[in-house]
Amino acid sequence: MQQHKRPPSSLIFIFGGSGDLNLRKLSPALYNLFLDEWMPEKFGIVGIGRSEYSNENYRERLLDGIKKFSRRKDEHNGKWAEFSGHVSYLQMDAENADAYSAIADIVKQKEQEFGEHPNVIFYLAVAPQLVPDIASKLGPLNICADTKCTRIVVEKPFGHDLKSAQELNHLLSTMFDENQIFRIDHYLGKETVQNILALRFANALFEPIWNRNYIENVQITASETVGSESRGGYYEKSGALRDMVQNHILQLVCMVAMEAPVSFDANEIRNKKVDVLNAIRKIKHEEVQDYAVRGQYSEGWMEGQKVPGYRQEKNVDPQSPVDTFAAVKFYIDNWRWQDVPFYVRTGKRMHTKSTIITIQFRPAPNYAFPPEAADTWRPNRLTISIQPEMDIRLRFQAKRPGQNLVLSPVDMIFKYDDAYDEHEPEAYETLLLDVMEGNATLFMRADQVEAAWKIIMPIQETWESRTPVDFPNYAPNSWGPEDAEALIARDGFNWITLPAPHGE
Ligand code: BG6
Repeated sequence: MQQHKRPPSSLIFIFGGSGDLNLRKLSPALYNLFLDEWMPEKFGIVGIGRSEYSNENYRERLLDGIKKFSRRKDEHNGKWAEFSGHVSYLQMDAENADAYSAIADIVKQKEQEFGEHPNVIFYLAVAPQLVPDIASKLGPLNICADTKCTRIVVEKPFGHDLKSAQELNHLLSTMFDENQIFRIDHYLGKETVQNILALRFANALFEPIWNRNYIENVQITASETVGSESRGGYYEKSGALRDMVQNHILQLVCMVAMEAPVSFDANEIRNKKVDVLNAIRKIKHEEVQDYAVRGQYSEGWMEGQKVPGYRQEKNVDPQSPVDTFAAVKFYIDNWRWQDVPFYVRTGKRMHTKSTIITIQFRPAPNYAFPPEAADTWRPNRLTISIQPEMDIRLRFQAKRPGQNLVLSPVDMIFKYDDAYDEHEPEAYETLLLDVMEGNATLFMRADQVEAAWKIIMPIQETWESRTPVDFPNYAPNSWGPEDAEALIARDGFNWITLPAPHGE
């Protein structure tokens, strides 16, 4: 195992302690950090919830979640007993301000046990509407005035629109310093997403051509095969644009489009990213139809199974106008990217679960080869597969072996699995470790969140003001509505999917 410095002592309170996010993501991540010896020497985890659990029952519940959802399902290394000794449960009504003194008591008790004051982390794994209330009840606790050691972690969605995001930022800023607030966007914790910075800024090869002179367009597809699952209630208030584009996808755009940072300081990276968001051209309400396409899935078939349409899903209005698919064309008005379209699309119940970024380079300026050599000639393309495949492939032309001069596109591929033996950590492992270490580089700053909402609002408002007449407009197992194909075809391009048949 690599030698590494562990984070300082930490006490983590998880609001929503018996909820889905904790079971599926947070506890498995904390346990994996423990197995990989990344947890602090001294730590405590306190799940907070309304339901009644003894510590023992609560730990069993977490272990069930780990067995189902962790990347290490069966491999407990006999360490569960040791880990779970650090876990306890606090039954508490988070709406009752008086109940919060129990938290202060636990902090005091742990201080004594650890022999030092630990980092105190409040993780709000709760429904978004509860965040302001819990934050304002936490704020008055003395420990929250400790700007160095006390941190609050807020899950997405961060606000429902620009106004509510501004209000939430304002509320949090009255109780916490910006450096205490960790707004999670789990895409930023993904290995492959972090690797975009390495690819771009640790290699001299790409940066000189990473601009409008050489790049024709950029595409980002984040497609999912699942429907709204059990989250109809949440999704009805969200939709694909809010759920995926406002946060994850715009963050990917930032990673691809940002200028080189001069250091890896959290604020430096975030400054460079927010510059991108500020430079994204604001789409006017009357232009939305030229730049954005929405869709909603009908009933149909996925892998031989009949699946319901969105309007038939649990907790969904049978007339719902909510988008389960969104495609948008963005422009970034700056020297590097002027006039280079960034096409993004995301949707539920699509053909494949995959997130890929494609950098499509311009054609070679002159083509001296005889026409018969060039039948399958295609411009260069760099494809970054974020998930589930994790690879980077560069497409270039090669001469086919033989006496005839025939060219064809081939891929040079870097696959994580082939190149490295190490298991890649899950996004939440990386992000939780960063919170314990107080490193905010991969978290959203207030201005980033608001800048992202400003980009989305004209589209969201236009869609909400016009009832979609053609919903549902795409079948499960497809690539979304036809209009999304038209959006990109109008500019002479097509959406790129993987595995790309050569010559596509
Ligand atoms: C979440 C969205 O933020 O991201 C979900 O709320 C979506 O609707 C999920 O399914 C996708 O995450 P991932 O890591 O599976 O791509």
